[in-house]
Amino acid sequence: MEDIKYKVKYDMSEAVEEAFKVLRANIHFCDPENKLKTIAITSYNPGDGKSTTSLNLSITMAKSGMKVLFVDADLRKPMLFKPLVSKDFKGLSNYLLDQAGLNEIVNKTDVDGLYFISCGIKTQNPGELISTQKFRDFLCEAQYNYDIIIIDTPPIGSVIDGAIIASQTDAVIIVISQNAVKTRNAIMMKEQLEKANANILGVVLNKVNKLDYKNYYGGYDYYDSKRKYSRKSLKELEKVKRDKYD
Ligand SMILES: Nc1ncnc2c1ncn2[C@@H]1O[C@H](COP(=O)(O)OP(=O)(O)OP(=O)(O)O)[C@@H](O)[C@H]1O
Ligand SMILES: [Mg+2]
Repeated sequence: MEDIKYKVKYDMSEAVEEAFKVLRANIHFCDPENKLKTIAITSYNPGDGKSTTSLNLSITMAKSGMKVLFVDADLRKPMLFKPLVSKDFKGLSNYLLDQAGLNEIVNKTDVDGLYFISCGIKTQNPGELISTQKFRDFLCEAQYNYDIIIIDTPPIGSVIDGAIIASQTDAVIIVISQNAVKTRNAIMMKEQLEKANANILGVVLNKVNKLDYKNYYGGYDYYDSKRKYSRKSLKELEKVKRDKYD
């Protein structure tokens, strides 16, 4: 493993961080004995938020003290995932092509406990590569070294890779972007994953507009109330100070 720590470019507001803590807790409720070691993240469309969700979940898990490996298994993308961009990465495809060992493709990050593997060089046959025994070997080898492996995949509506990967991981989480995925496509994706014998853990509803999110939580706006409260207490504090020194 390289000694360089890659800076992860991420931007999580308090509310987003809280949402990912909820996701982390819900995964734990499904798996109280921590038996799930490999989790794939998939969606129907490009742009639904698979990579963002995988990375934020990985960061949130790492911050809770777990040793997390984030794997970019979208071997069809010519571009590296932007928040983890660096140059000349050897990645997953290099491992699958026997060009590199696990140690050579894992990268440290500046988030304690978070490691990542990029997709690697572009190949002619990504679908076949992830169907090989070598991919299963990769999952087995990686499990020895990390508490959890989060795998980002390509969209199921475009290519079969996501279902192939999900058939080999302990579980899969589906990302659905609000108002972007047609019901029949969501059902098709679920059926495809079931055909692959994947263990569907649940769905992350992404890109929810603020009003819907607020309504879902019954209008209890913790952040606003906290802000109002701190403003009020500041005034009270000023008054106390004035009373004391006047
Ligand atoms: N909850 C969100 N709120 C706002 N923007 C988001 C959210 N989730 C993702 N995005 C943005 O949407 C875009 C697509 O997200 P992302 O790259 O994670 O999707 P993807 O499903 O991995 O796409 P692809 O299939 O092309 O790999 C990015 O610009 C990302 O920053
Ligand atoms: Mg992506």
